[in-house]
Amino acid sequence: MKEQLEAIQAEALERISQTEDMKELQDIKVAYLGKKGSLTGVLRGMGKLSKEERPVIGEVANKVRESITAALDEKNEKLELLQLEEQLEAEAIDVTLPGRPVKVGGPHLLSSIVQELEDLFIGMGYEVREGPEVETDFYNFEALNLPKNHPARDMQDTFYITNELLMRTHTSPVQARTMQEYKGEKPVKMICPGKVYRRDTDDATHSHQFTQIEGLYVDKNVRMSDLKGTLDTFAKKMFGADREIRLRPSFFPFTEPSVEMDISCKVCNGKGCSVCKGTGWIEILGGGMVHPKVLEMGGYDPEVYSGFAFGMGPERIAMLKYGVNDIRQFYTNDIRFLKQYHKA
Ligand code: DAH
Repeated sequence: MKEQLEAIQAEALERISQTEDMKELQDIKVAYLGKKGSLTGVLRGMGKLSKEERPVIGEVANKVRESITAALDEKNEKLELLQLEEQLEAEAIDVTLPGRPVKVGGPHLLSSIVQELEDLFIGMGYEVREGPEVETDFYNFEALNLPKNHPARDMQDTFYITNELLMRTHTSPVQARTMQEYKGEKPVKMICPGKVYRRDTDDATHSHQFTQIEGLYVDKNVRMSDLKGTLDTFAKKMFGADREIRLRPSFFPFTEPSVEMDISCKVCNGKGCSVCKGTGWIEILGGGMVHPKVLEMGGYDPEVYSGFAFGMGPERIAMLKYGVNDIRQFYTNDIRFLKQYHKA
C-alpha cells in the first residue's frame, strides 16, 4: 500500500508540474483529493489493514496529501500571477500617444474692449449700470431735451415699434433713468455699456446695431475742466501715455456746451496722414456739460447741481486701437478674425 501511495504522489506531482492551465489544475485536484479521487480511494481501504500497519500507512498517506496540496497551492498562485500579468499587459495604456487637441475659446474683441473700459472707469469711481434696449420715446428723446418734432431727432434714424416704443438709438436714456432713480438727492457717477440700434444701411463704417458706452457725472461744482481731465485720463490709458486730446465745439441737444473729442493720430504723431485724413487728429467721442433742462427733468436742480456726460463707441475704439477697417468684422464672427485678439 505504501508503494501505491508513493506512486500516486509521484504521478500527481508530475501532472501538477506539467500543467499551465487553471481549469486543468482544478481537475487534477478533484482527480486525487476529491471524494472519488484516487488518494481518497486508497485511504478508504485502510480499514482492512492490521492494527500495526494502520498508523504507519496513515502517516505516509497524510504526507502524500500534504505534499499534493502544497504543490497545488503553489501552482495555483503561480498561475494566478501569470494571469494578472497577462491582463495588465493587454490593458496597458500607451501614455506616449499624443492627445487630441482641445479648442479653447476666448472673449470677443468687443467684450474685451468693453471690459477694459469698464475697469478704467470703475477705477475712477464710476458705477456700471444697464438700461432696456426697447425704450420709450420719453427716455430716448424727450427726457434728453428732444421734444417731439425736434429737428435734431433726424440725427438718429430710429426703429419704431409703436408711436411711443422704439429700439434705443443711444445709451443716453440711461442718464435720465439713473437721475430719476436717484431722485435729485445724491451725486451720480455712472457708465452704461450696451447695444443700440439705428436705421442705417450696413457698410464698412455703419451698422444697424452697434455698441455704446455712456458716461454721466452729476454733483455740485462739476466743471468743464473735470470733463477734460477725465477724458484725457481715458485717452492716455486706452491709447497710450503719449496721446494728446483736443475738444472741438459741437452740438447735442442734451449738453450745453457740447464737444467732440479728438486724439492725436498715433500713425503720424499729429503730422497728418491717410488714417487721420491729413488733420493729425482722430475723432473719438461726443460729450459736454449736461443741459439744465435734462438735469431738471431728471429731478436735479440746475442751480445746485451741474454735470458732464459723454458717449463713445467701443467698435470705433477697437478699430482705431487695432487697425480694424470694417465694422462688420465684429458681427460676422469669423473665427480667424476673432482669434487674433484672444489673449493667451
Ligand atoms: N448719444 C450721442 C450719440 O449717440 C452720443 C453722446 C454725445 C452722448 C454727447 C453723450 C453726450 O452723453 O454728452 O450720438
